[in-house]
This record gives sequence, structure tokens and C-alpha cells, in this order.
Amino acid sequence: MRIGILGSGLMGAKLGTIFALAGHEVVFSYARSERKLKRLAREAGGKARAGTPREAAQNADAVLLAVHWLRFSDVLKQAGELSGKVVLTCSLPMNEDNTELVVAHTSSGAEELAKRIPKARVVAAFGTVPSEVLFGVYEAKRKTNRPSLVYCGDDRRGKDMAAGLIREVGFDPVDAGPLRIARYTEPFTMLVAQLAYEVKGGPELAYRFERFGK
Ligand SMILES: NC(=O)c1ccc[n+]([C@@H]2O[C@H](COP(=O)([O-])OP(=O)(O)OC[C@H]3O[C@@H](n4cnc5c(N)ncnc54)[C@H](OP(=O)(O)O)[C@@H]3O)[C@@H](O)[C@H]2O)c1
Repeated sequence: MRIGILGSGLMGAKLGTIFALAGHEVVFSYARSERKLKRLAREAGGKARAGTPREAAQNADAVLLAVHWLRFSDVLKQAGELSGKVVLTCSLPMNEDNTELVVAHTSSGAEELAKRIPKARVVAAFGTVPSEVLFGVYEAKRKTNRPSLVYCGDDRRGKDMAAGLIREVGFDPVDAGPLRIARYTEPFTMLVAQLAYEVKGGPELAYRFERFGK
């Protein structure tokens, strides 16, 4: 699959690297230096390369949006046409100093994104875990009892693609329903962040849902 990374920071760099290791054709884009994008592509190996957001989005089967809320307009403008494309977003609608959600309860960052690109197939995925755990999950993917990862969206094709990628990264995908459920998954991430960064134990933290009684 061809995957464009829009935002090659903590989340985008790691997820893009894992997608490349899993055999996908990855284009890293949107960082403040082209050198960084080239280094990421070189280190990821395989079919990874560096490009502009437009190059990352053009011909992509899916793009991953991994930027700060305040960068949404800029990156979307640079990416160009996204109609019909699967857009996975791990981005959260945080304020400038990353202390609070600026959209919550009655809407979500993912829904606001979908309003801006109404013809894209937006899926909220990967945003509920800290970046620090991603390589560890990938390395442990052959083990049983994989950690869960919730995702949600309104488009079946987009969600199937998301579930496949979530599995390839090493998680057990949990379909949480329509995109409006992101208004619950995004605040849930604040809890995960609290446990990852503010409580003893460290940020290599994932979660797992289990059903009992059947
Ligand atoms: N980090 C986490 O653990 C985590 C977990 C869950 C959800 N999220 C969400 O995922 C999204 C991405 O988070 P992140 O931690 O990966 O952010 P990040 O490390 O700050 O990455 C953002 C990317 O955007 C680029 N960027 C910023 N300003 C730019 C500009 N003016 N021009 C070009 N590129 C620019 C950065 O460039 P540089 O590479 O040059 O800095 C970086 O590559 C956020 O919405 C966040 O809330 C993060």
C-alpha cells in the first residue's frame, strides 16, 4: 500500500517507519527540515522516501495526519486534494501548550477534520497511545494478548484499511463505531497520557479491553 505521512514528528516518524518495515511504500512529509525527512526515509529503509505533503498525498491509498491541531489548516492546504482518500488521524485537538482539548464532548478533532475534508474517508486511529510504546508493540506483535487499539469512522473502506494497519503495527483493533465516538476516544487519550507521563511506570504504555461472561 502507498501511505503518505503528513507530519513526521513523534507519531508520524514512528508509525511511518513501522509501515515501511511492514512493506508499505511510505512518503514522509511535513517537518521543519527536509534533511530530517530524508534521514527518516533512509533509516526506515524499504520503499520509504521523503516528499512534500502534496507528494505524500498524491497517489496514496491512505494518509496519516499526525500534526498539532494548530497545523491542520497549513498541512491540509499543502497536501491538496484528499477527496476519496482514506485519512487516518491520530491528531488531538490540543491547545497551544498541549494542556487541554479545545474541542470535546459535543464534537471532536476527528469530526472537525472531517468537516474540512468532507469527501475524504476519515478514520480516527492510533491517537490513543503514546508514541513511546509503538516500537515495543511492533516488536511484540507475535505474542498473544496484544494490546487493544480503538478506532472509529463513518466509512467502511477506510475503517477496514485502518484495522489492517492497526493489526500490522501489533495491536488488536477495536471498532468503536462511527466517527462521533472520537469525542470519547480523544478525552480517553488524556487519561492514557496521565498514566504514561504523570504516574510512575513510564510512557511505554498501551491498554487492553477484555470481555468476560461469554
Ligand atoms: N506524541 C504522542 O505520543 C501522541 C500520542 C497521541 C496523539 N498525538 C497527537 O498526534 C499529533 C502529532 O503529535 P506528535 O507528538 O507526533 O507531534 P510532533 O512531534 O510535534 O510532530 C508534528 C510534526 O509537524 C511538523 N511541523 C510542525 N510545525 C511545522 C511547520 N511550521 N512546518 C512544517 N512542519 C511542521 C513537525 O516538524 P519537526 O519534525 O521539524 O518538529 C513534526 O514533524 C498531535 O495532534 C498529537 O496531539 C500524539
